Amino acid sequence: MVFKNKVVIITGASSGIGAACAVVFAKSSAKLVLVGRNFDNLTKTANMCKKFGLHPFVLVADVNIEDDLKKIVDETVQHFGRIDVLVNNAGFTILKEIKDGVDAFDSVMRTNLRAPYLLTSLALPYLIKTKGNVVNISSILAYRPLATMTAYCMSKAALDMFTKCAAIEFGPHGVRVNSVNPGPVKTQIFKSAGLNEEAVEMFFSNMEQSAPLQKVAYGEDVAEVVLFLASDKASCVTGSCYQIDCGLSIKQT
Ligand SMILES: NC(=O)c1ccc[n+]([C@@H]2O[C@H](COP(=O)([O-])OP(=O)(O)OC[C@H]3O[C@@H](n4cnc5c(N)ncnc54)[C@H](OP(=O)(O)O)[C@@H]3O)[C@@H](O)[C@H]2O)c1
Repeated sequence: MVFKNKVVIITGASSGIGAACAVVFAKSSAKLVLVGRNFDNLTKTANMCKKFGLHPFVLVADVNIEDDLKKIVDETVQHFGRIDVLVNNAGFTILKEIKDGVDAFDSVMRTNLRAPYLLTSLALPYLIKTKGNVVNISSILAYRPLATMTAYCMSKAALDMFTKCAAIEFGPHGVRVNSVNPGPVKTQIFKSAGLNEEAVEMFFSNMEQSAPLQKVAYGEDVAEVVLFLASDKASCVTGSCYQIDCGLSIKQT
């Protein structure tokens, strides 16, 4: 019941980490706004939340479109009257290198960086009213370079800096801003990036063997940390980038 009467917007709630966040916030009685482009998948997430007696507000929107970002804020306020938490989760990766040109850079930056920046600024007046907070879904690739995903790594490094700058700017208003930095998480992201099933399985198996905990995270593992950071239990935590990687990034390669 920690989030009773609190309004939580989750972008990319139609799959993976975003869908898992929706379920853990639903268990804590939050009023949810589920954002994504795929209505059918958003409805599936909403149905999982309904098991906890909630009726999430499903909002089809593309975070690459500026008018859609305005719609997310306006319709949330029309529907629920307030915004307490913004989870900037929508994101994707492309397996491209610098030699492949600038298109991957432009599209990844637009979704993974520009959208959270703009959506946060649009939500800010409402977050100030509620002394709410923002959780950005970053990655351990913010500080571990991977040449086949340069634009993605850059987008997450910049997102971490956005988290820290925003935490300083918003702190005096009582608004906290944090990131979570997952290692590999079993979701659709690599399949959507074009890897076949066999390659995805091999990747996760290698990661499981490399990680000190000998496993990789699921969306729910990330969602529980997001829930903590968004809750009053984390009232002194702001500007942090919280690693969830089963120990992978502390290992020497
Ligand atoms: N899985 C990992 O290993 C991992 C590790 C570290 C960080 N992350 C981060 O976690 C976040 C979630 O990824 P995931 O792993 O859960 O991947 P996923 O299963 O592929 O989910 C991605 C979500 O983002 C949404 N999305 C993408 N582009 C969008 C757009 N333009 N407008 C609105 N929604 C959009 C998708 O919704 P629609 O298709 O409905 O639009 C989907 O709900 C991303 O920011 C990712 O970078 C993932």
